Amino acid sequence: MNARESITVNVVAIEQLTPLIKRFTLALPDGAALPAFHGGAHVLVSMQDGARWYHNAYSLLSSPHDTRCYQIAVRREEASRGGSVFMHDKVSVGSQLAISTPANLFELARGTRRHVFIAGGIGVTPFLAQLAEHPPGEYDLELHYAYRSPEHGAFVEELKSGPHAGEVHCYAYSEGSRLDLLPLFANLPPDAHVYVCGPQSLNDAVYETAGMLGWPTAQLHSEQFAATNTDGRAFTVVLARSGVELTVGEDETILKAIERAGLSVPSLCREGVCGTCEVAILEGEADHRDQYLDDAEKAAQKTILVCASRSRTPRLVIDL
Ligand code: FES
Repeated sequence: MNARESITVNVVAIEQLTPLIKRFTLALPDGAALPAFHGGAHVLVSMQDGARWYHNAYSLLSSPHDTRCYQIAVRREEASRGGSVFMHDKVSVGSQLAISTPANLFELARGTRRHVFIAGGIGVTPFLAQLAEHPPGEYDLELHYAYRSPEHGAFVEELKSGPHAGEVHCYAYSEGSRLDLLPLFANLPPDAHVYVCGPQSLNDAVYETAGMLGWPTAQLHSEQFAATNTDGRAFTVVLARSGVELTVGEDETILKAIERAGLSVPSLCREGVCGTCEVAILEGEADHRDQYLDDAEKAAQKTILVCASRSRTPRLVIDL
């Protein structure tokens, strides 16, 4: 059902960049070029751990001008119990992984030269590909990158010695350096587009600051890399077309339960942002946790984003 193709790649290099972040270099077994992509694209990495499957989205951080390999960076997230721990502990050079062809929900907006990137932690990865794709002078690019401490600032040295060094601003919180959004927005030219990728708190701060200053939301773009909170009580989902009944565990998404049963649903972002996994609700009420539906659509209870939302009722029947 998913239009994105699956590709088998070899892990050809792994580097420990910080205590929590590893960079993986992936290439086709025959060394042929991988599908082209633009900065901001991500791939879904599918991992089988015994009977369990993980499907995690990771931004491509390598240059779109060189598709002999892709690079992704994975932050170890103990709390997620998901694929990041698998990637850190069980994937080594020589391992094979199934990845999807790239999809892009975070491309540069057209019609303007001025693009400002705001990154928190591992959220810097899509911007690395954007900077690599566009040589200095092609656009007015600017990156603001905040992270915990120098020890946790992955890619800082690369950025500071790269061709865009003059447009990169780094903020290590442990050193008292702060990313101050108010003056940043106040000094933006009116045609600038702003892109944010990082923890929810950074996304929220950017949208709040922009709102306070009346910055047009059409010129704001976000990509969340942290998993949406999917915890809650277990419930039953019924797939009406096949009659299949599934239990969605306490810390599982409906999408993961469907995939555990060997079925699939189109899903580009898997974080409640893109809308591709929207499914009609036939019975029951959703506990909406996505960022795609607006408040009126959420209240209408007509559809659910199965990658992020849960059920308020013990049983939810959906049109699948
Ligand atoms: S896959 Fe993007 S919203 Fe669900």
